[in-house]
Amino acid sequence: MFDLHCHFLPGIDDGAKDISESLDLACYAVKSGITHAILTPHIHQGRFHNDRLSIYESFKVFQQALLDNQIPLKVGFAAEVRIDHEIIDWVEQGIIPFLGRKQEQDVMLLELPHSHIPAGTENMVKWLLSKNIVPIIAHPERNKEIMKEPRKILPLYNLGCLFQLTAGAVAGNFGDVSRSTAEDLLKNGLVHILASDAHNLKHRPPELEPGRIAAEKIIGESASWDLVISNPRTIAEQHFNDRL
Ligand SMILES: [Fe+2]
Repeated sequence: MFDLHCHFLPGIDDGAKDISESLDLACYAVKSGITHAILTPHIHQGRFHNDRLSIYESFKVFQQALLDNQIPLKVGFAAEVRIDHEIIDWVEQGIIPFLGRKQEQDVMLLELPHSHIPAGTENMVKWLLSKNIVPIIAHPERNKEIMKEPRKILPLYNLGCLFQLTAGAVAGNFGDVSRSTAEDLLKNGLVHILASDAHNLKHRPPELEPGRIAAEKIIGESASWDLVISNPRTIAEQHFNDRL
């Protein structure tokens, strides 16, 4: 399975604290059936000042440690970008690493605040699309405004946004409202991928299968596998070249 949203890189956000924890997460991911992962540290103004270079430097350390420890996880790197007007400058400067490509567009993992959908979100999405960048919205099922009224994501869907659910939320680990919101989005065919958004082993481990099994009960087996294999693989294949 392909996990396109996780925080394994050591010491650059609120995920793994050091390389030892990074490797523990990688081992757990492999045991849980994840073969390929895109590491997506936060780029979040005022909290995590990452950019392509800082993420790449951390990624190289992690990738070498995987090799040294013979952990068979294939990896690439991108970022989870918190919505902010600065994104315009960041895109112009080329400091945002993308998840991959879809239909000749770059794919950006875009995070909304947990509390609401900020005013200006649609304008930012339109601007990104004008730059040939399609946003995939991270974990809409954990956004309080969407949890209250799932149809609030429809304007973003109609513009062309993709949506990523947290596998653990589909399985019920983030509470009943997140689970039912995820179910609603799945039933309406709005979901493109499941991802772990793993931060640590204790509370947010890197696993997709419990979420896939829960999704299977809602959308059927074949469609549930698409969410963890073919859809994420298509987006991320440039990271893995011939290693798919
Ligand atoms: Fe995340």
